[in-house]
Order: sequence, then C-alpha cells, then structure tokens
Amino acid sequence: MSQQLQQWQSEIDATQSIRDLDDLKVKLLGKTGEITSLLKTLGTLPPEERKDRGAEINQLKLVVSDQMDNRRAILEEQELESRLASEKIDVTLSVRPEAVGSLHPITQVFGEIISYFSKFGFDIATGPEIEDEEHNFAALNMPDHHPARQSHDTFYFMPDESGIRKLLRTHTSTVQIRTLRQSQPPIRILAPGRVFRCDYDATHTPMFHQIEGLVIDKDINFGHLKSTVIEFCRHFFEIPDLKIRFRPSFFPFTEPSAEMDIGCDRSGGGIKFGKGDDWLEVFGCGMVHPNVLKNCGIDPDEYQGFAFGFGVDRFAMLKYGIPDLRSMFESDNRWLAHYGFSPFGGK
Ligand code: PHE
Repeated sequence: MSQQLQQWQSEIDATQSIRDLDDLKVKLLGKTGEITSLLKTLGTLPPEERKDRGAEINQLKLVVSDQMDNRRAILEEQELESRLASEKIDVTLSVRPEAVGSLHPITQVFGEIISYFSKFGFDIATGPEIEDEEHNFAALNMPDHHPARQSHDTFYFMPDESGIRKLLRTHTSTVQIRTLRQSQPPIRILAPGRVFRCDYDATHTPMFHQIEGLVIDKDINFGHLKSTVIEFCRHFFEIPDLKIRFRPSFFPFTEPSAEMDIGCDRSGGGIKFGKGDDWLEVFGCGMVHPNVLKNCGIDPDEYQGFAFGFGVDRFAMLKYGIPDLRSMFESDNRWLAHYGFSPFGGK
C-alpha cells in the first residue's frame, strides 16, 4: 500500500498546473477514480476484513487529498507569480493614442467657461448639492408659500424630527447666498455645479449642470451685466456678431430681471447660430434684488450687482451639435468616443 501511496505522491508532485492537478483528482478520487474503485472492492471482502481495510483506504484518501491541497497552494502561488511577471506594465512607456480616454463634453465646456471668466478675475465658488429651503428659496426672496417655489419641480427629502426638509438644490443660485454670507464685497464669482429637477425628456434630465455668475461692488449697473454676458456668448460660440436680445423676465431674486436669447435659424431641422430670425433662450439674469443683499447682511444702498445663471449641458449641446440631452448621461463609450475631447486639448 505504501508503494501505491508513493506512486500517487509522485504523480501529484509531477503536476505542473492547476489543470493537471484537477485531472489527477478526477483520476484518483472521481466517480471511477482509482481510490474510489478501491472503496468499491470492500463489498467483495469477507466481513471481518472490511472494517480494517475500509479504514485504511479512507486514511489513504485523506492523505492524498491533503497532498493535493498542498500542491494546489504551491501551483496557485506559481501561477500568480508568473502572471505578475508577464502582466507587468512599464508606466514610463509613451501612451498609445488609441488607448487614451476622452473628456466628457460637459467637462470640456466647464473648462472653457471657467477659463474665460477667470481671465476677468472671477473666483470659483461651490456649495452643497443637498441644500435647505433657506438657501434654495427663502434667502433668495422666495419666502414660504411663494408661488415661484412651485415652478421648480423640487426633489424633497423626508422632514427630520424638527420638521426641517432638505432638498436637492434646483439651481446654483444657492451659492450666491453662501458667498454673500461668507465674504465681503467686492465679489466676483462663478459657481459651477450639478442641480436637480423632476423633469425628463429630450431637453431635460433630472440632474443637469448650471453655472452661476455673481458680481457685487459699488456702482455696478445693468450695462455691466449686458456686456459681460454678450461678450461671453460671442466668445463661447465663436461667432463675433452673434445676435443677442434681452427680454424682460421675472426671478424673485433679481430686479429687474431678464432672459437672454440668441439669434438662430431652425429651418433645417437643427439649430444654426449667426443667421435666421428665430431666437433661443439661453440665460436667466438680472440685478441682484435688494432683499437678497439684506438677507445676507449687505447694505443695498452701498452695494449692487448682477447675477446670471445658465444650463451648461444646453450650451454643450448647442456648441457641439449634440441632439439629445439624455445621451450625455448614459455612459456609452461609443458616444464618448464620438463626442468626447482629447485631454491634451483639441478634438
Ligand atoms: N437660478 C435661475 C434658474 O435656475 C437662473 C438665474 C440665475 C436667474 C441668476 C437670474 C439670476 O432658472
């Protein structure tokens, strides 16, 4: 018997891969394996021999299984070592162009807008996406039950023990309040970020991106607002004579308020800028309401300013000809390969 065991041991030691070992396991311990067959011979023995012989074979089986487990551990280790050696990558090698990822158009457009405004001394400001009613509404001159709150399709959280309801911010105007309460004028900020509204179709998704601009100083007037946003749009869309018009509008936190449209042509199905008699609404803006300044401890007789806000996704769609907003957030690599941008600049 020990000779037999030695034979098996050397077979186990001779295996060179997990696969070999699995095959050997079937050969010895499988349904028709050598050890299993030995157990089957027990029935042919006289009853007095069966017990001892049975114990002996089971012992063999245990020893062989143990040896296989040991061999398996060694082989696994070896296979890991050789994989580590063969899959080593040289991080100093130059990047293959076909393996480079691309920037999402939203990232690209955020970058373009931020770099434009930073040239004019705008700082970047941010605020939380989970907000409270104070920052999203009340301090922005929309007290409780103000009808404008209804127009926002807000996602609310369940109220906490004290009855306070948190919400997902519906606009980046919340950052106006946070900035005005934390810093002293002169203020010149740009607040990029994600916002949320319960809406879904080809031009609306429940999460989208806005950029808010806020300028507060002495003697700021509507002319400053107009030239800032007009020059920005002409630069962004790369059309020096882009047609632009301001329409009177209403936002509770600005007075007067306006919406800015850019001239376009929709006759061919898509949208073309720089010609045509149609208008596309792109911007909300206005002079910061004195109540907002007062709510933040700033004297409106001394300081004034303007604010604007617009959808970044919409700007990206318009500039780069992306037809459906929803496709932006589907994480489809083919879409990204087509609409994405090289991280090293350029398309
Ligand atoms: N917060 C407004 C919106 O989301 C846009 C806006 C910002 C309007 C700043 C005026 C001033 O619709």
